[in-house]
Amino acid sequence: MHLLPNKGQIKRKLYIESYGCQMNFSDSEIVASILSKEGYITTKDITSADLVFVNTCSIREKAEQTVRKRLEFYNSIKKSSNPRMLVGVLGCMAERLKEKFLEEEKLVNIVVGPDAYRDLPNIIKEVEDQKKSINVLLSLEETYADINPIRLNTNGVTAFVSITRGCDNMCTFCVVPYTRGRERSRDPESIIKECTGLFNSGYREITLLGQNVDSYLWYGGGPKKNFKKASIEARKKSVNFADLLEKVAQISSELRVRFSTSNPQDMTIDVIKKIAKYENICNYIHLPVQSGSTRILKLMRRGYDRKRYIQLIDNIKKLIPDCAISMDIIAGFCSETEKDHKDTLSLMDYVKYDFGYMFKYSERPNTPAARMEDDVDETIKQRRLVEIIEKQTKHSLINMKDKIGKTLKVLIEGISKKSNDEFYGRTTHNATVVFKKNNYNIGEYVMVKIIDCTSATLKGKIV
Ligand code: SAH
Ligand code: F3S
Repeated sequence: MHLLPNKGQIKRKLYIESYGCQMNFSDSEIVASILSKEGYITTKDITSADLVFVNTCSIREKAEQTVRKRLEFYNSIKKSSNPRMLVGVLGCMAERLKEKFLEEEKLVNIVVGPDAYRDLPNIIKEVEDQKKSINVLLSLEETYADINPIRLNTNGVTAFVSITRGCDNMCTFCVVPYTRGRERSRDPESIIKECTGLFNSGYREITLLGQNVDSYLWYGGGPKKNFKKASIEARKKSVNFADLLEKVAQISSELRVRFSTSNPQDMTIDVIKKIAKYENICNYIHLPVQSGSTRILKLMRRGYDRKRYIQLIDNIKKLIPDCAISMDIIAGFCSETEKDHKDTLSLMDYVKYDFGYMFKYSERPNTPAARMEDDVDETIKQRRLVEIIEKQTKHSLINMKDKIGKTLKVLIEGISKKSNDEFYGRTTHNATVVFKKNNYNIGEYVMVKIIDCTSATLKGKIV
């Protein structure tokens, strides 16, 4: 079987599915780009695919179970209608399980970790020779800076652009530093070039992506830990996250800029000031807190305590009065007591987050927290999670109701799922708004008067 088509031959088809964080979705676009140079086109029809890739997530056990179920599904497709298809596992699960994947899952032919996608053409050649193949080497330099991603499932308006890879924070519960390797920043010139290209082809919103965007630092290459040893010249020309944010915002006032994720320990006043200064840097910060208890934050090795987090929130609210804030919270981390849990609930009452992503603690093998005892009873974890979710739903509703009667600028992103006569888009706060189309187009900004809401969606009309 020939998987790498020669020039002029019929194109081979790649079906690629992504799970987990936005970075994975963004990486799949890089993979599609690398393979397009080898003559592959992407397809949404798995039954006709020559190559099926699943870009996987290891963050919680449930995420891994979802992927295992997908592999079962691919197996059934292979048996019933597409016996020739090859299956590859990419991303964090590939990195975490390595060879084990090939041993455990007989169906899997290819295992490739997040820093080895440039090797995919070689790997596919090896598989052509009936071998199974694997590359899970992590890198200190790879940022795929020169690769122009092929936008998959795009609305033509919003896009993700990755600016850092990996993470050096080593939060005790987190598998990411092991699956995505050391933190490295991408050359700002290549970032600006990609963003400008997107703007020129009609995109109007860019989300800068990284596990910890605020620790972005470019000084001409090399790992961040060597920055202090760099020449004075190189240090003078260095670009930090606040600088980068400004450069992207200056591409055009018509281009919205968002970013994700910020670890509270690295967010600086400079970044907050840039958000306040530029109308097109959205008034929205995702600021995962994980817990409201200083004792638990210390066990999680988050690098901030409750007091410092609150100071950061106060600074944000002072400098950007109309800023939406969202969070991630983990319920039931090792040794969490009722008092720790109450601290989380009271912190939520203080901040009144606009949105939240809330999880039960899930022990990940080989992380530092795996050596602690996962001792919060499952029913207690569940109950605490429900209390956190219920509180968040209330706060979301309060924040959404607060917008009723206001007229807000909305970027039109697409046609509403519920009605063909309606568009959906988002406000600067990242709140979704649904409204009648009138005569506008996707990709345009409109002023929308908010007339109604649920805890998740605003309803309005164009004025
Ligand atoms: N870089 C981001 C987080 C990336 S992981 C940050 O700085 O916070 C996304 C979210 O998944 C985390 O914020 C955390 O809330 C959750 N998470 C990570 N590991 C987890 C685990 N072992 N169990 C439950 N939730 C986890
Ligand atoms: Fe994970 Fe903490 Fe980095 S949550 S991704 S180790 S900032």
